[in-house]
Amino acid sequence: DWTMASFREDAVARIREQVGDGKVICGLSGGVDSAVAAVLIHEAIGDQLTCIFVDHGLLRMNEAEQVVTLFREHYNIPLVHVDASDTFISALEGESDPEAKRKTIGRLFVEVFEAEARKIGGAEFLAQGTLYPDVIESVSFTGGPSVTIKSHHNVGGLPERMNMKLVEPLRELFKDEVRLLGKELGLPEAFVGRHPFPGPGLAIRCPGGISREKLDILRKADAIYLDEIRKAGLYDAIWQAFAVLLPVQTVGVMGDGRTYEYVCALRAVTSTDGMTADFYHFDMDFLSKAATRIINEVKGINRVVYDVTSKPPGTIEWE
Ligand code: XMP
Repeated sequence: DWTMASFREDAVARIREQVGDGKVICGLSGGVDSAVAAVLIHEAIGDQLTCIFVDHGLLRMNEAEQVVTLFREHYNIPLVHVDASDTFISALEGESDPEAKRKTIGRLFVEVFEAEARKIGGAEFLAQGTLYPDVIESVSFTGGPSVTIKSHHNVGGLPERMNMKLVEPLRELFKDEVRLLGKELGLPEAFVGRHPFPGPGLAIRCPGGISREKLDILRKADAIYLDEIRKAGLYDAIWQAFAVLLPVQTVGVMGDGRTYEYVCALRAVTSTDGMTADFYHFDMDFLSKAATRIINEVKGINRVVYDVTSKPPGTIEWE
């Protein structure tokens, strides 16, 4: 009889057997998968594990603090927190092609991660929160075997050149099972239930060129949108919801003055695995309330639109 409790026990035994008394490093993304993998591995081998959190400056409001607090204070897991936002943002400025942005982020991530791993010295194993769908997502969902829709970046994307053995305890699991395992391991419900967040972060939610200013505007709009979704009790019914800051300014009127500011698009989808998705059918009162708050509270946005595209033909993220 297969239960999460027995999976946990077996996984702990397998990790111990694979790793022996070796050292393991684990890259945290802030997401659920890498966090669950890290907590599970920590249960198996304790301080033989060191986590590295490369903060690329493309995270949502308060996200970095939440991860650091959870690992250092709640679990007492050794964690190296690298603030590399200057490196990432200056490399991305002036870059507007979606694939080029993804590749730059992936390359810098590996460079920063490798440098930190060297400082720790001598780890033989690299832990990854790879899930079963990650294993098959690399096979194109459109049927065209050689079509790359997007170059995925996540902490599971560290290439073989790191020359380390992989520890991937979640390889057979789907997202909902990872969430159950997370609960089984005592991770806070609110953390385990979080919507998926892409490795390249807010960079792919600012179509075109990014800047610190745009990222700050986006972070504020996104936080308000999610706050309204939570207040309306809709968070768990939605697979992913987020704001996108469009590289378009439009004319508006505020009081008796003219405004010329950015457009914010809101996205929310339902899905079971991210491979296909339907846009979420909010009622108009909800959208109106969220839009009004964003326009009133976020300087730099004067218009809000809602994305009614499903996947296919759209993708969930805009880039
Ligand atoms: P798309 O936009 O391809 O996204 O429909 C499908 C799911 O994957 C997430 N996503 C990523 N996750 N690294 C990740 O770890 C990435 O580079 C990446 N790109 C997209 C997206 O948020 C959605 O859940």
